[in-house]
Amino acid sequence: MTALATLAALALASGEPAVPVSVPVETAEAPAGACALLAPDSGRATVAECLACHGGSGSGHPVGLDYGAFAGRPGLRSEADAVAIGIFLPEGELRCTTCHDGRSRVRHRIALPPGADVRTAVVPGDPATYTQRRLSPAALEGRAVSPKPLCLGCHAF
Ligand code: HEC
Ligand code: HEC
Ligand code: HEC
Repeated sequence: MTALATLAALALASGEPAVPVSVPVETAEAPAGACALLAPDSGRATVAECLACHGGSGSGHPVGLDYGAFAGRPGLRSEADAVAIGIFLPEGELRCTTCHDGRSRVRHRIALPPGADVRTAVVPGDPATYTQRRLSPAALEGRAVSPKPLCLGCHAF
């Protein structure tokens, strides 16, 4: 049973309304089993395959959509431009693996486009982090970084 299904079952048992399985639910449980993102060739994994374990996690960004249907709207780059920047759109879709790459060395395995200007993450409430330092490729392992170069691959704010 997935964490979500468990939650839905618990909610039913306690008389609360059932939670639709498509809606991410906050959960404190760590997902069970080895992360599928680390499997070779995980890039084409569907959103549903990731959500099987990660019900309540992630950035909350919309996923599982055909990027081409949104591209070119105000503030969003064309699909060709996004792909040229290095944004990964398996079968044209924005999936979990658009933003997470098992080969990424930074914290949360954020997929940063090749040649991105990678900088330290800002932590709200910690002024020491407000000045973002540029990180050399040698300093990336496990580091919390700003995802901005990834976001700007599609969004042209
Ligand atoms: C648009 C980019 C984007 C997409 C799409 C995305 N993520 Fe993330 N994810 C991030 C970023 C950025 C972080 C770092 C934490 C933050 O800023 O929210 C993150 C953090 C995480 C984390 C670690 C933090 C936590 O909440 O446990 C997990 C796990 C995760 N994402 C899983 C997923 C899964 C599963 C999907 C697909 C349902 C997904 N992400 C889709 C950008 C994305
Ligand atoms: C079989 C269950 C399972 C599946 C399926 C799964 N994961 Fe994970 N994932 C985990 C576990 C366990 C962890 C480690 C949790 C922890 O220590 O916080 C993890 C960690 C992560 C992290 C955080 C890594 C970090 O360094 O912070 C991200 C991001 C992530 N998974 C994304 C994905 C994506 C994207 C998919 C789909 C391709 C996916 N996961 C599929 C179990 C799974
Ligand atoms: C693959 C292209 C792509 C990437 C990369 C991307 N986005 Fe998006 N983003 C989209 C699309 C498409 C939408 C949906 C637009 C809509 O619904 O009109 C969206 C929607 C959003 C929204 C509106 C959310 C909502 O629920 O309506 C925000 C905020 C956002 N993105 C921020 C980010 C941030 C921050 C990052 C980097 C961590 C990021 N995006 C990365 C394509 C992308």
